[in-house]
Amino acid sequence: MNDNEVYPVRATRTFPGVPQECGAARAWAKTIVQAFPEISDAVELVTSELFANAVRHTASGIPGGEVEVAVTMTGDRPECIRLEVTDQGRRPDRPWSVPHARMPSEDSQGGRGLFIASALSREWGRFPVTGSGAHHLPGQAHDRPGSMITWAEFPVHQIERDLELAGAS
Ligand SMILES: Nc1ncnc2c1ncn2[C@@H]1O[C@H](COP(=O)(O)OP(=O)(O)OP(=O)(O)O)[C@@H](O)[C@H]1O
Ligand SMILES: [Mg+2]
Repeated sequence: MNDNEVYPVRATRTFPGVPQECGAARAWAKTIVQAFPEISDAVELVTSELFANAVRHTASGIPGGEVEVAVTMTGDRPECIRLEVTDQGRRPDRPWSVPHARMPSEDSQGGRGLFIASALSREWGRFPVTGSGAHHLPGQAHDRPGSMITWAEFPVHQIERDLELAGAS
């Protein structure tokens, strides 16, 4: 690879949309970023929260549903690693919702997932999957209304040219 080359390096894996797979998704993401110890715990935790949200709040969590997890680093943004979790959109049995961080009351036991994600990442956000150039679960962009990519970016000290995401292509 020469110095002028911009190299998007992306690792993706699709998991069944069941809570028991959360640990596998978390462990996979941590392994992918193993060359970046300064962010690996944060990536692991945020993967866990975003995966759990996809399963809990979207059609990814109905039987046969899936969640795609992707980790990317790019030469044009060498200062960060990006995590993306793609869900399968609105559940027919739930009101419509979008990922939104909130500050739960002190005695509330839940509702901190995205608050945690925002605290552990440089920036987070979400955007709808459109199918035009967006990454999405194959063949499902259009028949899954509300499908969303929730992403978080993690600052890394420096991406050396010879450091790679494990298992990325
Ligand atoms: N992928 C998603 N698609 C649609 N709505 C989402 C998604 N992720 C989160 N949300 C919405 O954002 C809210 C806040 O998410 P957050 O993870 O902070 O809390 P929670 O999932 O309700 O509780 P906890 O994470 O503590 O179990 C959720 O209650 C849900 O309404
Ligand atoms: Mg949550």
